Amino acid sequence: MLSVRGLSAGYGGLMALRSLDLEVKAGEWLALLGPVGAGKSTLLGVLAGLVAARQGEVRLDGEDIRMLPPHLRLRRGIALVPEGRRLFSGMTVRENLMAGTHALSDPGMRRRNLDRVCELFPVLAERARQIAGTLSGGEQQMCAIGRALMASPRLLIIDEVTLGLAPLVVGPLFAALAELHRQGMTLLTVEQNVPLVLAHADRGCVLSGGAIVMGGPAGVLRDDPDLPRHFIG
Ligand SMILES: Nc1ncnc2c1ncn2[C@@H]1O[C@H](COP(=O)(O)OP(=O)(O)O)[C@@H](O)[C@H]1O
Ligand SMILES: [Mg+2]
Repeated sequence: MLSVRGLSAGYGGLMALRSLDLEVKAGEWLALLGPVGAGKSTLLGVLAGLVAARQGEVRLDGEDIRMLPPHLRLRRGIALVPEGRRLFSGMTVRENLMAGTHALSDPGMRRRNLDRVCELFPVLAERARQIAGTLSGGEQQMCAIGRALMASPRLLIIDEVTLGLAPLVVGPLFAALAELHRQGMTLLTVEQNVPLVLAHADRGCVLSGGAIVMGGPAGVLRDDPDLPRHFIG
């Protein structure tokens, strides 16, 4: 579905990604791993169109999307839940969710997506009229994921799924992602809890110093003695 070849990107004189290759297959859950500063958020930003690629190719179903702005990538099915969620904190849960549908012209589709999101995260239906900024961190993350799902994405990208959230909400959040995956959603996630995400994902790859240094089926990667080495220092 998504194919990245020879991708380089950076900020001023800093190269954050160096000739990186990555494939995401339709229907799979790919876990992007790596230490702080590895370039994970930069990569997700390039995929969503928020960070410019300096070199290389980014293709979605074979189409070169490198020059497309974020809203057109969203229309083609790439939705990003950014680190820190970026909700409209003064607006209600429902208003936040509906903000995710601005690219959809079909009102029937909006209703179906809202039903689907509320089924996945019942707490969002219960709190539809609550101001998003007053939700718990876990509920805010559910709202941010829900808002992304409202756009009918085919590829859902989530940066730091559980960072800063109470341990109690981690299980339900991953259970919801597992359900989405079961329904056929393609997932690309960044998560610090490596054993947790590798217990759910199909495949993992480790980014370090702007390059993929390791990758493979989640079950194999999980038991690889070389894995912890990439997270130290
Ligand atoms: N907006 C920015 N301006 C300058 N440098 C940045 C910016 N965002 C990230 N960086 C740098 O790019 C590198 C990769 O960062 P990032 O992609 O955020 O890594 P990760 O998400 O893996 O922690 C780091 O050296 C970071 O300091
Ligand atoms: Mg990051």
